[in-house]
Amino acid sequence: MAEHDVKDLGQAAAGRLRIEWAEQSMPVLRQVRERFAKEQPLKGIRLGACLHVTTETAVLMLTLKAGGAQVVLCASNPLSTQDDTAAALVKEYGIPVFAHKGEDNTRYYRHLEAVLSTRPQVTMDDGADLITQLHRDRRELLPDVIGGTEETTTGVVRLRAMEKEGVLAFPVIAVNDADTKHLFDNRYGTGQSTIDGVLRATNILLAGKTVVVAGYGMCGRGVAARANGMGAHVVVTEVEPMRALEAVMDGFPVMPMAKAAEVGDVFVTVTGNTSVIRSEHFARMKDGAILANSGHFNVEIDLDALAKTATARRQVRPFVEEFTMPGNRRVYVLGEGRLINLASAEGHPAAVMDMSFANQALGAEFMVKRGRSLERKVYVVPIDIDREIARLKLASMGVAIDTLSAEQESYLASWRHGT
Ligand code: ADE
Repeated sequence: MAEHDVKDLGQAAAGRLRIEWAEQSMPVLRQVRERFAKEQPLKGIRLGACLHVTTETAVLMLTLKAGGAQVVLCASNPLSTQDDTAAALVKEYGIPVFAHKGEDNTRYYRHLEAVLSTRPQVTMDDGADLITQLHRDRRELLPDVIGGTEETTTGVVRLRAMEKEGVLAFPVIAVNDADTKHLFDNRYGTGQSTIDGVLRATNILLAGKTVVVAGYGMCGRGVAARANGMGAHVVVTEVEPMRALEAVMDGFPVMPMAKAAEVGDVFVTVTGNTSVIRSEHFARMKDGAILANSGHFNVEIDLDALAKTATARRQVRPFVEEFTMPGNRRVYVLGEGRLINLASAEGHPAAVMDMSFANQALGAEFMVKRGRSLERKVYVVPIDIDREIARLKLASMGVAIDTLSAEQESYLASWRHGT
């Protein structure tokens, strides 16, 4: 059996069923897999992946393996692993996995190390922890690496900071920046699964509640739209004027967090930044306020400050911790402030991860083909790959679209036509 550190191999059969279920909703990735199986574009490549260990990720791992890669997987977040999926990957599909749901930081980093010790030639990250560890502690492995791919906004922000400082040692493809990724995964995926996570954890009724969404990027828009659709009054907080203006014109009240803190029943952070909800805000919240984060890291809610102020704390349901504040007000934190859509729910649905992970698979193929001639920079997914994914997704949904006539093409190419 493949090397591994997973919780319970006894869950493998259940995991396999769920992987097969996800696969049914991933027609684009399935097509990539069929081609990979024939063409073997990743033949013999050692690929180290640090991703949320979900059924959708499992389908990606099987695609990369079908393409000839030697794949090893660890978790990109201590609380996002689906233990049955991890078990199935090891036992049913022979893929080495290092991931336990609820692992502590020591084990989390031990798992990253297990992946790095296989000397990856291609890295695949969600949040850039694997690449960071490689650049920080395992620099002797850098010469082996052809390139990497990065799934999420937070990871891309970190990589661009590395590139700016001149420390990025190999090229990386920012999968997040493909249109077929962030326009769909971030908006519809995070939107739906965040609400799903909040509801599975709490079973509250959203209708009539005031939901404060911090951050109006693609993820924030998704969360706001879905909460609104379920009858919540949505309030948006932002620091970026253009996004704030969009939120206003999308019909949402926009205000500083200090004010939103007083009116919110449920708070969801999706900013990618630190300490977005902090002491001054906890102090103003209503009794019973519920706080959740759907950004990549557990830094958006200042939990240390909350713990210091609280007079008592207790777990009241799975993924729900109650903090009693001075004056007996209660504040509830969901999923330890980690991304709630993966902590208490199952992450983005397969139909949207289909496009994100088609970008990952094709990005890895591109890196193997072209990485050696690229600079040590962050690259976007080539536009023809992005478009092809959109085309395949539409076809899989049975949606046909028009094509430009010769006259229209020439009209668009000409500056001579006017009033
Ligand atoms: N990120 C968000 N949702 C995910 C999922 N279902 N699988 C892998 N990564 C994810």
